[in-house]
Amino acid sequence: MYPIHHTFGPHATLPFALRSLCLIFQPWKWRNGSEQESLRNALQQSFGGDVFLFYTAREALAALLRAIHLRSGEEVIIQAFTCVVVPNAVHACGGVPIYADVDGDTLNLDCADVERKITPRTRAIIAQHTFGIPADLTCLRKICDERGIFLIEDCAQVLPDDPSSPLARTGDFAILSFGRDKAISGVSGGAVISQKADAAVALADAERNAGQLPFSVVFRFLLYPLIYRKARALYVIGLGRAYLALCKKLRLLIPIVTPEEKQGNMILRLRKLPNACAALALYSMQQLPRINAHRRNLTQYYIDACGRNGWNVIPGIQIANCKSPIANHPLQKFPLFFPNADGLRASLKEDNIFLDDGWTGCVICPRGTDTEALEYTAGADPEAEQVCEKILCLPTHPTMTMQQAQRLILCLAKRHDH
Ligand SMILES: Cc1ncc(COP(=O)(O)O)c(C=O)c1O
Repeated sequence: MYPIHHTFGPHATLPFALRSLCLIFQPWKWRNGSEQESLRNALQQSFGGDVFLFYTAREALAALLRAIHLRSGEEVIIQAFTCVVVPNAVHACGGVPIYADVDGDTLNLDCADVERKITPRTRAIIAQHTFGIPADLTCLRKICDERGIFLIEDCAQVLPDDPSSPLARTGDFAILSFGRDKAISGVSGGAVISQKADAAVALADAERNAGQLPFSVVFRFLLYPLIYRKARALYVIGLGRAYLALCKKLRLLIPIVTPEEKQGNMILRLRKLPNACAALALYSMQQLPRINAHRRNLTQYYIDACGRNGWNVIPGIQIANCKSPIANHPLQKFPLFFPNADGLRASLKEDNIFLDDGWTGCVICPRGTDTEALEYTAGADPEAEQVCEKILCLPTHPTMTMQQAQRLILCLAKRHDH
């Protein structure tokens, strides 16, 4: 039985892996090539503004914070229940991350708490669209306009395919990620979309002066889809875990978040998006209507299954999934709340189902992050603390099939009842 998972190469379909394989044999295309400009143009056509490409979204965010001349001690409001690399980028640029609580109905910033957290030192608000559920951009835009502060959309987990969507188009800036499990994937990669001409000049400089990644790193990114396709097949015969452990030991896999990052440390250096990653991200972007349609189908299936099983659907998902073009956004994952989420995840492993996605067990994800070093005060954002304890996400990625979704719901219902 093929494993059900969040992290075993979620975008690594056969065509994706074949593209990766072809690129392995064309090392002259790894660092520089035409795909970087093609990706930039495709993003610019879709979202307007100026687009700048970097090695990761965290480096894109750091480049942006430098471009707006964030000064030492200035504050950036971010939500609790976020990825550690976001506050790390703020810190690395000399800023202070200020955590605001989330609205449990959307898993996004609670606007009332944002208002409470604003001070004369606030320079920007980062609006994360968690798992593709749209943040309340109307309210956040208003707050920013009234106070003269920047609105940065964190679109790491959503890339709209509908030109009338306000997402990635309402903020002064938007950050995109092309990480391995994001809305689209280049295995690694990030971008800033800037609607501000003066910041665009500084961002262009930052991109031009960014360093190149070593060839060995690009090579390992290109191996990633192949390794995980093999691992998924080996899980069928019970050898997947050992195979992945071996690949890790041989350092063939590059972690998404390093131990140093979990301690609150980011080395502030900017690297270019390798052309090979741009080529994969471009392919992924060309597939966006298909990827998003697939995510919407699985989301609808999960909503129906929740109804049959008496599980509450998070209200923001109902809104996100209604047929209005403004609200109909694909989910990168389908979050549900269970009081025994950790226990369920553990027992589902017996069914070859791996739902650990890093977004549990800690307000600043992944689990094990040093929240004190990240200046989060325990108890400060109670809603976010509850969310991270009871959340369990179901996959909607390109390699998750409808048959697997059906099996997942059956197993979840069985395990939940016992
Ligand atoms: C919400 C959010 N923002 C930003 C990032 C950073 O993305 P990247 O891995 O490309 O640096 C992540 C990644 O994990 C994320 O989940």
